[in-house]
Amino acid sequence: MNRAIQDHLRQLFCLDGRTAVVTGGSSGIGRAIATSLARAGAAVVVVARGRAALDDTVAELTTAGCRAAAVQGDLSTRSGVRAVADAVVEPFGEPDVVVSSAGVNLRPPMAEIDETVWDTTMAVNLEAPFWLGQQFAPGMAERGYGRLIHVSSQQAHRAFVTSGVYGVSKGGLESLARSQAEAWSARGVTANTLVPGFVLTPLNQRLQGDPERVAALAERTFVGRNGVPDDFAGAAVFLASAASSYVTGQSIHVDGGFSVH
Ligand SMILES: NC(=O)c1ccc[n+]([C@@H]2O[C@H](COP(=O)([O-])OP(=O)(O)OC[C@H]3O[C@@H](n4cnc5c(N)ncnc54)[C@H](OP(=O)(O)O)[C@@H]3O)[C@@H](O)[C@H]2O)c1
Repeated sequence: MNRAIQDHLRQLFCLDGRTAVVTGGSSGIGRAIATSLARAGAAVVVVARGRAALDDTVAELTTAGCRAAAVQGDLSTRSGVRAVADAVVEPFGEPDVVVSSAGVNLRPPMAEIDETVWDTTMAVNLEAPFWLGQQFAPGMAERGYGRLIHVSSQQAHRAFVTSGVYGVSKGGLESLARSQAEAWSARGVTANTLVPGFVLTPLNQRLQGDPERVAALAERTFVGRNGVPDDFAGAAVFLASAASSYVTGQSIHVDGGFSVH
């Protein structure tokens, strides 16, 4: 690759000097995003509850020559979110990029949804991204650069396998991105959502136990297969980088065509 090409790609996509926080960065889509941002040059802090997966992620990234750190925390309560917000700035300072990928998928039938299911789902999937935005976006706006990236779901757009509160939380998340975009885009802080279809991760392991169902879902895409976490690597770098500075308030489907089939 010649120098001109390298310079062009660097200007568009390089994240060297940027700091990113990725919630849910220890598994599945979040881990793939954290890895991609780190390999593009960002110093990355991954957040989750489980220590072992966090340590494993950081070890993998540092072995690959990336800058990475972990914060163990629980985003299902406001005090937990506050503790995470305080802790994530310690390794590398204030974030330029916050990716909210942590999510839970508790889906009892509608009539059986109780307060715990509602509260936990809304807290992790919707409220934590909101509070992290409140915490970090004003500073991003002052510095003139920021990226809020949320991971939603096709269930923000259509009911699917007892969507219940999960679908409600993801619908709210995409609205949140639009509100954040309205609030801060003029000062260099964009807010966007990545919308997966069906991705093979631990989140939907139960469904993966049904091979016919998995094959049927793959057939509903145009590409002809279900998603894998690495499918989000490119879109995440795009949304985190200078290349996407005029893209804001958008829901970007990374789903092999699932949503338009
Ligand atoms: N897989 C799919 O087909 C699919 C489809 C549409 C949307 N999505 C969305 O994509 C995002 C990532 O899902 P995934 O499929 O990659 O799932 P995953 O592999 O299960 O990862 C979920 C991550 O969130 C963390 N997490 C869960 N609850 C948390 C809490 N209370 N506090 C802090 N961290 C928490 C988990 O770590 P700990 O458990 O250790 O805390 C883990 O790192 C989610 O928002 C999900 O809704 C996935």
